[in-house]
Amino acid sequence: QQEESLRPQNLAEYIGQKDLKQLLEIGIQAAQSRGESLDHLLLYGPPGLGKTTIALIIAREMGVNCKITAAPALERPRDIMGLLVNMAPGDVLFIDEIHRLARMSEELLYSAMEDFRIDLTVGKGTSAKTRTIPLSKFTLVGATTKVGALTSPLRDRFGLIQRLRFYEVDELSTIVSRTAGILQTQVTSDGAEEIARRARGTPRIVNRLLKRVRDYAQVTGYPQIDSTVATEALELLQVDPMGLDWTDRLLLSTMINQFNSRPVGLEALAASTGEDAQTIEEVYEPYLLQIGYLQRTPRGRIPTPQAKQHLGLED
Ligand code: ADE
Repeated sequence: QQEESLRPQNLAEYIGQKDLKQLLEIGIQAAQSRGESLDHLLLYGPPGLGKTTIALIIAREMGVNCKITAAPALERPRDIMGLLVNMAPGDVLFIDEIHRLARMSEELLYSAMEDFRIDLTVGKGTSAKTRTIPLSKFTLVGATTKVGALTSPLRDRFGLIQRLRFYEVDELSTIVSRTAGILQTQVTSDGAEEIARRARGTPRIVNRLLKRVRDYAQVTGYPQIDSTVATEALELLQVDPMGLDWTDRLLLSTMINQFNSRPVGLEALAASTGEDAQTIEEVYEPYLLQIGYLQRTPRGRIPTPQAKQHLGLED
């Protein structure tokens, strides 16, 4: 409930992702003045940057409903059929982790996206017939952390493909101030910036850290969150000044100490650290790459000198 109320409700309230915002403003206005639905939209990028929020905002701005689902819930073709036949004209369908769609479900989507109909084959062999079910026009918003894992027939059916980028510290500071207002918590601008700096460019993380710092301030009796309180609380949470958490540091120190900073494969790193390979690849690595602590080479990933310096593991 509270999570929901923290989400921006419209494009004007949405902070950051300027280019995407502008494209959406234009697309929404144009579609509305023609009385059409918005083209299908594919959003990709690391988790927590606001993909679901954007789908919800589009629906609200277009005055339609948004159905939210994820590919693993659409295992059987009939799961996705059930959703599609129940869409009202113009509705938004949000499918998270769309690169994981089962093949049969994905193939149903092709004609649904392109011609707003479902083609079904009934029966087998010479007595097989095709049945066509017409659908309302809808907007598919697909989200993925791995755009390269999408098949090209699926990718080609999106009218707009956009990457969400990590947020700047000043954008995250603004989000902290906005969220603090909703949570009725006092945060100084220094306090907001300290939390923002440690949030790995990610709004979901900045809001989570703010809640933990707010708990800390409340229990220790600080009347407001300034940079001292924020630093104390975040040190207690083991979120370091670069925003790296315990797992980030484990991944880097394993690469440095155990693999002597030589290229290491994802599976080997997963096995050595006890972390899930997919989580390493989709959640941890993007930020470590972004801040230049990790490099990906054809032979594996290697930690950079900056990572060694940050961890105090220089040779
Ligand atoms: N809360 C989470 N993400 C946000 C964003 N991009 N803009 C405003 N508030 C947010």
